This record gives sequence, structure tokens and C-alpha cells, in this order.
Amino acid sequence: MTSEQADTDALRRKTRQHYDRFQFGFDQEEILQEKFDNRLMGEAIREIAQPGALVVDVGCGACRVARLGRRHTQADTLSVDLSLNSLRYARAMDPGPLVAGDNMHLPIASGSADLIISNGVIHHTPDSRLSFHELARILKPGGTLVVSVYDRDGWYYWVWHYPGAGIRALRRLIGDAGIKYTIFPFFHIGVLVLLSLHTRRFFRLPIETSWNLFHDQFTTPQCEFHTFDEVAAWGKEVGLQWREQRREAANQLATLRFRRPLESEPTGASAA
Ligand SMILES: C[S@@+](CC[C@H](N)C(=O)[O-])C[C@H]1O[C@@H](n2cnc3c(N)ncnc32)[C@H](O)[C@@H]1O
Repeated sequence: MTSEQADTDALRRKTRQHYDRFQFGFDQEEILQEKFDNRLMGEAIREIAQPGALVVDVGCGACRVARLGRRHTQADTLSVDLSLNSLRYARAMDPGPLVAGDNMHLPIASGSADLIISNGVIHHTPDSRLSFHELARILKPGGTLVVSVYDRDGWYYWVWHYPGAGIRALRRLIGDAGIKYTIFPFFHIGVLVLLSLHTRRFFRLPIETSWNLFHDQFTTPQCEFHTFDEVAAWGKEVGLQWREQRREAANQLATLRFRRPLESEPTGASAA
């Protein structure tokens, strides 16, 4: 094994341990509805017309996509995650098929998915670009890929790097027990206020969900940021057509939508 391979394996293991400990929930009804109503992922789910189309959610967390797919379409869903505890959490939420797998080596046949959703995942893998390529591999001709990454040009880049570095340093000193009684209450109240203002009613956010969200925002072992142009270029490399892009989740995420052309169509061309 090369040292590069060993580093990749170590990072993947740390990420799995992170999400085994802090499963990403954030799956309250208002949050699900916002994804469906306002996000590119919701639009793509709404457009699924044929029963039995396959929707694959890679890095599914609490299976928010599968739940929306089941509720609003007659599609089949497949939810994949690296973290077994996240899949256990998801099992309690959604009866659909779950697969333990790594985004960089998906245990899924090439060209099998009609719609792939990757929401906030590839920037946590050891190599975002190769993870993107792997998503493209499993996409059917005519199929859609919606991928959201942390936006290099958004505010969160600065938060992760500056207050975030301080929080990670403090955590090394005082541990999670210390963080829970110092910084975390401010985070929890801040998120409650923002979500309540956004939804115009008191938002109920369980402490456990908020604690795991805090760790998703500040302590993940791997966190990369990408521009729209970078992700669009990855799409070109693997012959996908760029269709649309949008800043989402209060400008934290850069979301792009791609389509794999049919075999009879030219590859790699941008949509007009
Ligand atoms: C921020 S959460 C997003 C969850 C979900 N996509 C959502 O929007 O609710 C990131 C998820 O990606 C998963 N993940 C991280 N690295 C992964 C990898 N290499 N392969 C598959 N899943 C991965 C984590 O376990 C976690 O559940």
C-alpha cells in the first residue's frame, strides 16, 4: 500500500467514525419541506415522471431524499452512506433499501441511476473530484445528477477557517464536554433564532440534532470548498452536460445540476 493510499484510508476511517458518533439528522418536517420546495434537489425529485425510476442518494445521512422521493413520487430509492450508525438512524426513518458504501467506490453498477442526489457529501470524502467522477459513473444516459458542495466563494469558507480553527483548537484543549457547556449553547441559540426567523414560528430543534449539526459544521476530519467552475469542469471531464447552478442553504452550498446525454447526443456540451 502506498503512503497516499494509507492517508486516504485513514481519512475515510476518521470520517466514518465522525459520522458514526455525530449522525447528521436535521430532518424536521420544515427542513424536508424547504428542500422539496426551494432546492434543486426538490425540483429534480418533482420531475421524476416514470414509476420505478431509480433515485440514489449518496451520503444519505437521515435519508431525507428517500423520504421525499417516497412521499412525492413512485420512484425506487437507494440510500448509501459510509457510516453504519447513520444508516441505523436512517432505518428508523425510512423503510427503503440502504447500502453501506464509500462514495469513492460505490457498490452500484455503472449507468443504473435515473437521479442521483449528493447533498453536502463529496467535500467530506478524501477526494471530491474522484467522488464526483464515481457519481457520474453510476448515472444513466438521460439521467440527472444534483450535487451540492461547500461554496468556496460563500461566507462559510471564512467561518470554517477562522472561528472554526479556534473552535477545533479549543476542543483539543477542553474536549467535547467542555465545548458542550461553553461554545455550543451559543451555537444552539443562534441556530434556533435563525430557523425561527426563517420559518416565522418557533422552531423546535432537539439538542441532540443541534449537537450533531455543530460537529458537522466545525469538526469534520475533511472539509473542502469548491467553486461552481471547478465542479462544472469535473462534469465536463466525464461527459456530463451542465444544466443549472444555484447558491443554496443560505449561500453555504454551491449546487449544480447535470445531465448525462443519451448515447445519440454529443457529450460534454453545456446546455444553452
Ligand atoms: C453533512 S451529511 C449530509 C447527509 C445528507 N446528504 C443530507 O443532506 O441530509 C454528510 C454525510 O455523508 C456521509 N459520508 C461522508 N463521507 C462519505 C463517503 N466517503 N461515502 C459515503 N458517504 C459519506 C456521512 O456519513 C454523512 O452521513
